[in-house]
Amino acid sequence: MPLVNAKEMLTKAKAGHYAVGQFNINNLEWTKAILLTAQEMNSPVILGVSEGAGKYMCGYKTIVGMVEGMLENLGITVPVALHLDHGSYEGAKACIEAGFSSIMFDGSHYPIDENIAKTKELVAVCEEKGLSIEAEVGSIGGEEDGVVGAGECADPDECKMIADLGVTMLAAGIGNIHGKYPENWAGLSFETLAAVQEKTGTMPLVLHGGTGIPAEMIQKAISLGVSKINVNTECQLAFQEATRKYIEEGKDLVGKGFDPRKLLAPGVEAIKATVKEKIELFGSADKA
Ligand code: 13P
Repeated sequence: MPLVNAKEMLTKAKAGHYAVGQFNINNLEWTKAILLTAQEMNSPVILGVSEGAGKYMCGYKTIVGMVEGMLENLGITVPVALHLDHGSYEGAKACIEAGFSSIMFDGSHYPIDENIAKTKELVAVCEEKGLSIEAEVGSIGGEEDGVVGAGECADPDECKMIADLGVTMLAAGIGNIHGKYPENWAGLSFETLAAVQEKTGTMPLVLHGGTGIPAEMIQKAISLGVSKINVNTECQLAFQEATRKYIEEGKDLVGKGFDPRKLLAPGVEAIKATVKEKIELFGSADKA
C-alpha cells in the first residue's frame, strides 16, 4: 500500500479509544523493524523523522525513496504515514516537497499569534496536497546539554485556537518531556489534558515523550482523548542494550559475527519487541 496521510487512522483511533504509535526512524534497520512489526500486528503506524535524523539519513528524498521501496518490497498492507517530527517552517515545506504524507509544524516556541499565522499557512498547503498536519501548543520539555526542562502545560484556549485552524492533530504539552523522565518528575497533568480535550472535542491529541511513561498513565491519557503517542528514545535504548550484549559476549569475534547483518540483528529484534509492546499497550493491534 502506498503512503497514506494520518487523518483516517487518527479519526478512527479517537473514535475507537486507542492510540496509533509514532515511532521515530534513524536508518534502514529501524524502518524495516517498525514496518514489519506493524504488519505482523495488523496495526496502522506512523514513521517519525526529526530534522536531525533527516540530515543523518541523507535528506528527505532519500527517506521517501527508502520507505516507499520497503512498503512495496516487504509487501506492507497496513496504513503507514511518513511524518516530519517537530518540523520548522522551512523543514515542513521541504518534506511536503519531498513526498512525505504528513508533517508536524512545531511553532510552540513562537508567540501564539505567530504560531497561528504560520500553522494556518501550512494547513492550507497540506489541505491542497492531501497531507495531514500536526501543530503544537505548550512546549514539550526534555534534556538538552545536561539541562532538564520541565514540560510546560498548554493553555486550553490556545489549543482551541490552533485546533480551529483545521489541523489534523494537536500536540499539547501536559508535563511530558522527551527522553528519560527524571526521578522527581511530577507525572502527566490529566487536569490540563481533560481541559484541552473539552475545548477541542473530536481533535486527535498527541502525546510526545512516550518513553518511560507508566502504562496506567498511557491508558488514562488515551481515555482522555490522546490518539497518537510518539516513541523514540525507548527504541534507541533497546537497540543499544542488545548491541552491547552481542559485543560484550564476544559474538562479533566468532565466525562472521562482524558482518553488519549479524552485528545489527539483535538490536533490530529489540526494536521489534519494543514496538510490539507499545502497539499492544496503545491498543492499535488489528486496527489496520
Ligand atoms: P521520546 O524520545 O521520549 O520517546 O519522545 C519521542 C517524541 O516525542 C518524538 O517527538
